[in-house]
Amino acid sequence: MAEVKASLICGVLAAFLSSTVLAFVEDLDDTFKETRVQDIWLVDFYAPWCGYCKKLEPIWHEVGMELKSSGSPVRVGKMDATAYSGMASEFGVRGYPTIKLLKGDLAYNYKGPRTKDDIVEFANRVAGPAVRALPSKQMFEHMMKRHDVLFVYIGGESPLREKYSDAASELIVYTYFFSASEEALPESVVLSELPTVAVFKDGGYFTYDEYEDGVLSSWVNKERFQGYLQIDGFTLYELGETGKLVAIAVIDEKDSTEASSRLKTMMQRVAKEYREHFNRDFQFGHMDGNDYINSLIMGQVTVPSVIILNTSNEQYFLPSEPIESMEQLVQFISGVLNGSAQAYGGDGIFQRIKRVAFEARSTIMSVFRSSPLLGCFLFGLPLGVISLMCYGICTAESDDGSEDMDALKREGLTDEEEEEEDEEEERQHTAAVEGPEEEEEEEEEEEEQEEEEDAGEKDPEEKKTD
Ligand SMILES: *[C@@H]1O[C@H](CO)[C@@H](O)[C@H](O)[C@H]1NC(C)=O
Ligand SMILES: *[C@@H]1O[C@H](CO)[C@@H](O)[C@H](O)[C@H]1NC(C)=O
Repeated sequence: MAEVKASLICGVLAAFLSSTVLAFVEDLDDTFKETRVQDIWLVDFYAPWCGYCKKLEPIWHEVGMELKSSGSPVRVGKMDATAYSGMASEFGVRGYPTIKLLKGDLAYNYKGPRTKDDIVEFANRVAGPAVRALPSKQMFEHMMKRHDVLFVYIGGESPLREKYSDAASELIVYTYFFSASEEALPESVVLSELPTVAVFKDGGYFTYDEYEDGVLSSWVNKERFQGYLQIDGFTLYELGETGKLVAIAVIDEKDSTEASSRLKTMMQRVAKEYREHFNRDFQFGHMDGNDYINSLIMGQVTVPSVIILNTSNEQYFLPSEPIESMEQLVQFISGVLNGSAQAYGGDGIFQRIKRVAFEARSTIMSVFRSSPLLGCFLFGLPLGVISLMCYGICTAESDDGSEDMDALKREGLTDEEEEEEDEEEERQHTAAVEGPEEEEEEEEEEEEQEEEEDAGEKDPEEKKTD
């Protein structure tokens, strides 16, 4: 009896729990268009068939749970973007999953890592006020400890303050924005004029100058990273959005010689000491290992070495000789800045073709490396079949078309065909004329592309000959 009771309680508890878990994430439908305006919403636009969406699902529940339990005003929902495609396209959903925070008329895209903590942090940042007040020295110091890069408006009401608010509501997806009176700043901060906007980072602070820096929001966009960073594929993509070139020391962190650490130190010094000259146009950092860069430029860079990337057009710059000194490094960067350095790569048509070939090759290579037998089977088998067919077609072509067809038939076409021979022979004749051309094309692609695809394309081809 006791057992039955216990299991009953468990069952009820589980049902209760699962229903509350579900309630943390609301399923949205057509009515969302009207209801959304009253609240702040964090929405996952998903497609039922998409793998990344499925991966996000448990995380999404945790996000919903955390936001609810922390008393956040943000409501968490999910919408099947394929079932409500009209709504989804109104919100500008293009890929799946798309995460958006909707606040009044504004919609903010989330592009960061899909982890609970990152998403919750994003939701809290974007849902809160665009500009947050720092009322005291203690608050200021506390925030300085928490953030590597801190934007602060200093002063009272002004037109600059309005521009700051506008920039903040646009760029809150990237960073926090604060405001403070001069009294809340540390004594060491000396400002030549008020009001002003300053960014505190890299152990100092830098003020915005409307004449030199242009539009406030573009200045913020360029200053929102530390001057020097450890860079990986993801940060490189983020850094690219600042519109700056990225100067990278490609090093080996485990290098036992001094070479790597010397180059890294030089890069750090240039970032700091030549900030005045280069900060507007360059972001500095280092990358551990050359794998990522090699696949990016489809080539080979030595370790350690320096490369400068233009992520907006995929061009890159390499020094003409190995960099041994600060002077050489500064020379190299100046050369890129004044346009005298040679640019490589780019996003032209030739480079794009090269990219396709490169990627196909590395896919094939990786299959062979991880499992040579599977590689032989996957790529060797279709290759063999295709060459046999080519051989059949080519040798038959010198003769008359009907014989060609017989050859094809012997290679295993279906029974049905043999019943309507006359018609068939005519059709097949035309197919034979087209045949060799198409096969040749396939063979060319084969050398560069994945053979799997070709194997897939064979089916419709065979139907055509039917
Ligand atoms: C980087 O690419 C952009 C976009 O094509 C271009 O406008 C800019 O001049 C490039 N910068 C350099 C230094 O080549
Ligand atoms: C560009 O900068 C390099 C390195 O500082 C310098 O040697 C070169 O003369 C400069 N070229 C132009 C056209 O200013």
